[in-house]
Amino acid sequence: MTPYFVEYIIKMISQETFNKEKDITTSLINTLLSIKPLANFARSRARKMIIDRANKIGVNWHKNMTTLQGRDWNDDLKQVENPHLKYPDYYLKSFHAYDNGNLGWDAAWELESAAYSVHSTIFSQEPQLSGDRTLRKKYHEVLQQEITKSLENILDSGCGTGLSTFILKEIYPEAQIVGLDLSPYFLAVANYQAQQKNYQINWHHSKAEETTLSPESFDLISSFLMFHELPQDASLNILAESYKLLKKGGYLGIMDMNPQSEVYKKMPRYVLTLLKSTEPYLDQYFSFDIEKELIKIGFSQPKIVPISPRHRVIIAQKH
Ligand SMILES: C[S@@+](CC[C@H](N)C(=O)[O-])C[C@H]1O[C@@H](n2cnc3c(N)ncnc32)[C@H](O)[C@@H]1O
Repeated sequence: MTPYFVEYIIKMISQETFNKEKDITTSLINTLLSIKPLANFARSRARKMIIDRANKIGVNWHKNMTTLQGRDWNDDLKQVENPHLKYPDYYLKSFHAYDNGNLGWDAAWELESAAYSVHSTIFSQEPQLSGDRTLRKKYHEVLQQEITKSLENILDSGCGTGLSTFILKEIYPEAQIVGLDLSPYFLAVANYQAQQKNYQINWHHSKAEETTLSPESFDLISSFLMFHELPQDASLNILAESYKLLKKGGYLGIMDMNPQSEVYKKMPRYVLTLLKSTEPYLDQYFSFDIEKELIKIGFSQPKIVPISPRHRVIIAQKH
């Protein structure tokens, strides 16, 4: 999901809480963020804003959270977890203001409500419940325009709690769909939600860069908002693994933040430093030349389509 902090910071800028004239430097921000109580305060403000906005658009954050919290998740976890998986160090960092990042229940139970909230103002000044759905819909409009052949096998790489997987299932009901993620907590929630919807989806707990899935077995690999969470070496390895997993003529579709958009181009450096406190690899994401790397790996010239003021779709085909 678009990082909590992006939303918070954009709001702070628009409210001129931070005034550029005062020359708040990157190093000062870094110093402030290294003071734990201050960093925690900023995070808790960002979190409060997300929850307030969720409630404003009609998402009952507290109820959603407590409903999921009330289940016994032990069996769900056992069904999806690969107990032998070794997590890469970069994944063990704090993300999105959760100390244990994506490896915890709170993040899993809150992901859907948070996605609705943080995407609620993308297409409108006024927060709207439909923002998240519209973003996903626009991504699929681009995919459907570019990919005209039928898709039998689809991988959702970095599927989270399944929001991006369920829409794939709705658009391609006949396809065999695999949802892959490194968080077993997210996959447990995804599996539970899929059962509620009666959707047949195979969940796969692994690194997207080392999947153990069969080579040349997918027509489409889709990745929705995963790449901004990755250091560059992991992104490179995932692109290479995706190339290996795709059938000849298969497609890779990526939806994520658009570093070329005016919103991010105009963003002062210190703001990016602030964002880093909840999105540790954002600067690496912003300087990653994904187009060049896709071509080096062997993909066709990728097509890049902006779909919101700050998101873009990348589609590349395996020759
Ligand atoms: C912002 S979430 C997006 C989730 C989902 N695609 C959606 O649209 O809601 C990014 C996801 O990528 C996953 N992820 C990050 N690095 C990964 C990796 N190396 N391998 C597999 N999943 C990864 C995270 O666990 C998280 O679920």
